[in-house]
Amino acid sequence: MIANNRRSFLGKGLTSAFVLTSGLGILSSCNNDKKETGIDRSLKIGEKQHQKLKVSFSDKIQKTPLFQLPLPYGFDALEPYIDKETMYLHYTKHHAGYVKKMNAALEEMGLKVDNVEQILSSASKYPAKLTNNAGGQYNHTLFWTFMKPNGGGAPSGNLSSAIDQEFGSFENFKKTFQDTAMSVFGSGWAWLICDNDKKLRIVKTANQNTTIADNAKVQGLPLLGLDVWEHAYYLKYKNLRKEYVENWFNIINWNTSEKRFDSII
Ligand SMILES: [Fe+2]
Repeated sequence: MIANNRRSFLGKGLTSAFVLTSGLGILSSCNNDKKETGIDRSLKIGEKQHQKLKVSFSDKIQKTPLFQLPLPYGFDALEPYIDKETMYLHYTKHHAGYVKKMNAALEEMGLKVDNVEQILSSASKYPAKLTNNAGGQYNHTLFWTFMKPNGGGAPSGNLSSAIDQEFGSFENFKKTFQDTAMSVFGSGWAWLICDNDKKLRIVKTANQNTTIADNAKVQGLPLLGLDVWEHAYYLKYKNLRKEYVENWFNIINWNTSEKRFDSII
């Protein structure tokens, strides 16, 4: 069902130009006159190693910038399932905080990268102060696109077929995904990913770990992800994570998931 044409991870992705208009320009200009550092060499080694991995990343998917993209809808657009105040704090404080700290770490380290994927693909080589915040930027940038007003329902097309094939039915998938989200101990995420073997899998990551890191327990391209940090729901749902997880299915933007899947099969 799923095609076998695998794309080499980051082959084109790491070399493709990504024009940045903020922080990176400053970082670049700061580093133009520097000789290659140990970190630069480490990054190059990480890139070479990662090109050997099978992770299916599509060069059709835009890499994650080092700055915060605009929220694709208003803070109140996902009411009543996610309240306006939670969205405001989540985007302007929590997500923005990760971006700020990621760029501060890059500057402190004198590390020049074009996108967040470059950091995460060598996550095992970098300190937590960089990778945790880069993960926060990656995960949240995706998270906003996995939701939309009047979303929900079920996916269609290739993704629908693949879900039926892998999980038996959409309802089975939904239950497994929700159970996984409920099983996250403390802070973390639940994901639907397409793994190295083009197989759909439901996994969880702790804190701001990602499924694209070179040291991820299970690697794969995220097709859908749910933030189950308390900052994502506590104002409205208090300790009732289950209610949040169930309601979230009313605002899923399946178009995003379908496009991401179609780009790698
Ligand atoms: Fe979050």
